[in-house]
Amino acid sequence: MFESLPRLPEDAILGVMAQYREDPSPQKVDLGVGVYRNEAGLTPVLACVQLAERRLLEAQLTKSYVAAAGRAEFNAAVTALVLGTNHPALRDGRVRTVQAPGGCGALRLGAQLVRAAAPDVNVHVSDPTWGNHVPLLGGAGLRLLPYPYYDNTDHVLRFAAMLERLNAAAPGDVVLVHACCHNPTGADLDEAQWRALADLLLRRRLVPFIDLAYQGFGRDLDSDVAGLRLVTAQVPESLVAVSFSKNLGLYRERVGALIAIGADRARSEAMNSHVLQIARSIYSMPPDHGAAIAALVFADPALCTAWVDELEGMRERISGMRALLADALQIHTRSASFEFLRSQRGMFSLLGLPAAAVGALRERHRVYMLADGRMNLAGVMRHNVDYLAAAIAAVL
Ligand code: LMR
Repeated sequence: MFESLPRLPEDAILGVMAQYREDPSPQKVDLGVGVYRNEAGLTPVLACVQLAERRLLEAQLTKSYVAAAGRAEFNAAVTALVLGTNHPALRDGRVRTVQAPGGCGALRLGAQLVRAAAPDVNVHVSDPTWGNHVPLLGGAGLRLLPYPYYDNTDHVLRFAAMLERLNAAAPGDVVLVHACCHNPTGADLDEAQWRALADLLLRRRLVPFIDLAYQGFGRDLDSDVAGLRLVTAQVPESLVAVSFSKNLGLYRERVGALIAIGADRARSEAMNSHVLQIARSIYSMPPDHGAAIAALVFADPALCTAWVDELEGMRERISGMRALLADALQIHTRSASFEFLRSQRGMFSLLGLPAAAVGALRERHRVYMLADGRMNLAGVMRHNVDYLAAAIAAVL
């Protein structure tokens, strides 16, 4: 039966992660998969998570099922963290949040919900976007169309072209938007651009599907969702996929949520019933351990304060490395070509290198990044920044 299946190429991101792990070179530099690293190169368990986990293990009495929607207190806390407490959709009772297995699980739930409601709809995704958006949404049977987003030569947003393309989208189409720390470009919309986008979505009756995987990695927890709140307050229907892999460091625990906002209370109830049925038909119920940790961190004021501090530490380290790398590249390339690294946000930037240069970095210098030149800035450390900048200059 399976003879007809061809062997598929490796996943673009997980493939680089495996190649890096296999490389025995002590000089190797990992700028591939999007995980935070500290100055020692580790992806630590956050102290607030360790405390919550210990408390949880001591107090836990059962491993019995929770529910297809996951933990109610987790879902309520996520809703408040993302939408705030004053959001008009909350006041109108139009918000339903369901715990999901990571941001990927949330994206897939949302995609299948869209497919159930409107199988022929187009989903407009930024060019470029995160590699896994395509199989997650496309694999649910949705048709994806790119919209212009980023100029990889001049390292600026193509905002006018983006609006022009979305202006031509059919009413009812879905627009996938990155809430902050755009993956892979690190280039985010500013406040005026979010306003213009919100107006366009409303006017053209487009449905935003917002991917929020890096809340707190850009400016701070609230500022990073200001655009999201603006858009979801203005349009009648929207979806938000939330991930706590990065900002709580809960990667392997798979902690996420899908927030569905309907046009009215009855419509949001109907959407929720479909989301729960989709969840039940794929994985039945989300894993509980990570969400239980997250819920405890959100609920306990001391743990929550500790989390906000640790999150700030991760954010500050990455933006410090952005500046350090831009300085080092200025020296090694004798140019200002990499100045854009300073002002971009979050873990990623596109270096704008041709594929041959990315290959040479890996073969000759043991520097691993994605084939499209996406680098994870958290892989830059004081001890490797000079080596890295010299290697990049050498392959240019
Ligand atoms: C990334 O973009 O590298 C991360 O989000 C990890 C992943 O699953 O792709």
